Amino acid sequence: MISSLKQSTLAFNGHNILRSRSLVPVPTRHLQFLPSANTGRNSIVSLSKPLHVVSPEAFSNSLKKSLKHEKEQSLIKCKAYEAEKSEPISESPVTKSEAARRVKIGIYFATWWALNVIFNIYNKKVLNAFPFPWLTSTLSLAAGSLIMLISWALRIAETPKTDLDFWKTLFPVAVAHTIGHVAATVSMSKVAVSFTHIIKSGEPAFSVLVSRFILGETFPPSVYLSLVPIIGGCGLAALTELNFNMTGFIGAMISNLAFVFRNIFSKRGMKGKSVSGMNYYACLSMLSLLILTPFAIAVEGPLIWALGFKEARSQIGPQIIWWMAAQSVFYHLYNQVSYMSLDEISPLTFSIGNTMKRISVIVSSIIIFHTPVQPINALGAAIAILGTFLYSQAKQ
Ligand code: 3PG
Repeated sequence: MISSLKQSTLAFNGHNILRSRSLVPVPTRHLQFLPSANTGRNSIVSLSKPLHVVSPEAFSNSLKKSLKHEKEQSLIKCKAYEAEKSEPISESPVTKSEAARRVKIGIYFATWWALNVIFNIYNKKVLNAFPFPWLTSTLSLAAGSLIMLISWALRIAETPKTDLDFWKTLFPVAVAHTIGHVAATVSMSKVAVSFTHIIKSGEPAFSVLVSRFILGETFPPSVYLSLVPIIGGCGLAALTELNFNMTGFIGAMISNLAFVFRNIFSKRGMKGKSVSGMNYYACLSMLSLLILTPFAIAVEGPLIWALGFKEARSQIGPQIIWWMAAQSVFYHLYNQVSYMSLDEISPLTFSIGNTMKRISVIVSSIIIFHTPVQPINALGAAIAILGTFLYSQAKQ
């Protein structure tokens, strides 16, 4: 042995990843010390033993000896333990912290899905009575921006340190986020919530097609194969949807496309930036709000909003205001939690969580709004959702 250098175990843990709310990236912030759920697959460096620099022959001999010794040790230890049962069965600190981490992620996921379901319900209730998707989209971004500005002012959340470069790289992300958000809301104003989310489960297909034909990336055959159930399932669900509406369908498709570009821009722009998931989403909301407001005024406008609000208030009563507040606040909260969970999990876990979220939204909205569903329509949705699971696995 010439030298010996002790290394820490390091792992990259999905911080520079895409979130495809799919996956939008939360910037690379730090190297994370194990324990990590991403041990193995996402680890770039994983050195938990001393690093020795030796000659090849010496290394080979030493490795053989070491393996033999380890095998013997492990056998002896096992036998002794089996015979005497004298070793206390205690959880190691690593196992405990891993368990705590899983509980934390479980809480994030449950909160994310619950908030998302609540948002979708209030959003649809508002859109049924007050069909102005451009304004409701603007209000959700405004509520999020306000919540975060107050949180920063009161020091509930740490104010992010940003520069002009940060905002420049965020701009294309915000444009895509704005388009995706408005398009999804327009879709939901025209069709059942469940239908919008079934079509939105087809986002991976857009991701692969854009990456293949615009960015020239290639994927293993299993990824392309997983698109068959996604496209087939979405197609079947669309063809058999009882309340099909072309604007609603196209809105969901545009949302998918926009979110794919949002992910691509995020991936390119945010590498190496040090803003937490929560603050990243806050900045994204603020910039999107600035982009969206003039368009919302141009497309719908205060006059039509005032008339529409009067009508909605006469039909629903003053609680329409609470519904609007709820859809705006819950939109921000579910997004914030999803971005926060991205700080903890890999893109694969996020992607699976997002698919599960769609299932909760589809099922709960069908129950709450009594959406008529034909068996063939449900089959299409199930095939599409299954396809997104297969895609997640194949992509990994
Ligand atoms: C939006 O309004 O931004 C969309 O409804 C987002 O939907 P998702 O978070 O389920 O992709």
